[in-house]
Amino acid sequence: EIGIMKITKAIIPAAGLGTRVLPASKAVPKEMLNIVDKPAIQYLVEEAVNSGITDVLIITNRGKGVIEDHFDHAYELEDKLSKNPDKKELYEAVLEPSQLCNTYFLRQKETGGLGHAVLCAKNFVGNEPFAILYGDDVFISDGDPVTKQLIDAYEKYGKGIVGVKEAPTKDVSKYCSLKVQKIEDKVFNCTDMIEKPKPEEIMSNYSILGRVVMPPEIFEILENTPKGAGNELQLTDAMKTLAQTKGVIALDYYGTRYDMGNKMGIMKANCEVALKHPEIAEDFKAYIKELAKTL
Ligand code: UTP
Repeated sequence: EIGIMKITKAIIPAAGLGTRVLPASKAVPKEMLNIVDKPAIQYLVEEAVNSGITDVLIITNRGKGVIEDHFDHAYELEDKLSKNPDKKELYEAVLEPSQLCNTYFLRQKETGGLGHAVLCAKNFVGNEPFAILYGDDVFISDGDPVTKQLIDAYEKYGKGIVGVKEAPTKDVSKYCSLKVQKIEDKVFNCTDMIEKPKPEEIMSNYSILGRVVMPPEIFEILENTPKGAGNELQLTDAMKTLAQTKGVIALDYYGTRYDMGNKMGIMKANCEVALKHPEIAEDFKAYIKELAKTL
């Protein structure tokens, strides 16, 4: 019995084109869009770190160099702020992203799909199970971070874990649909799945949203998976093969998801985080109440 390997690596695919949030994402990567005072991708790296991850690989592309800058030192700023005792908190906030964990960057040289982006991480991951945090999905949960919930499930079941939520039928066709069988509360055996199903192909309203934990076998499967929807290599198609052969576990996680890849998601994230932000919560609440009267 070798036991189950501890999960310390995560990848964040962030090389998509972000067409749903143009023109905002023309020069600024959508992963760098703000939620009150932090870019979305910082929430993801913090979630990974709070889940026990020590090494994060962010998949970028040629337009996304500012993501690397955000997790690097900003010497001039840090130097100035560190010399001013009144700016201690700001100094720490500027320093923090560079201190979270080991961050690595790799460019996906063509937009070949989420599966192609994940395949770029093959040598980084090696022969270990690892987490994938979809770059535009931010989660805020009061309890364990979503990635931690999936890692715990991996340690319990020893199989690939896909994070799922029940989606309205009209949305399932935009995501994917899973064939599931309940094992216990919030936990299902998944033996089949389909990316962007037609209405008659829907197997359940459970869709994979935002987070998965995969065994290293997924790379070999990806290498043998043909291009799928949108003529892109789909991660879902590879996970489908894994589900049909070894089986995967679907975990209905808890936590609120904000899709930073669309306009409503961005507005909800900003609104809800602002209503809890220590610096502005009170003023923002008063403002929202006044505004609501005029609606
Ligand atoms: P999306 O399906 O949201 O695609 O990708 P997108 O291109 O970013 O956005 P739209 O549809 O054009 O608005 C899901 C995740 O996979 C990453 C994206 O960055 C996002 O985090 N991705 C997608 C890649 O890293 N590479 C790809 O080739 C495609």
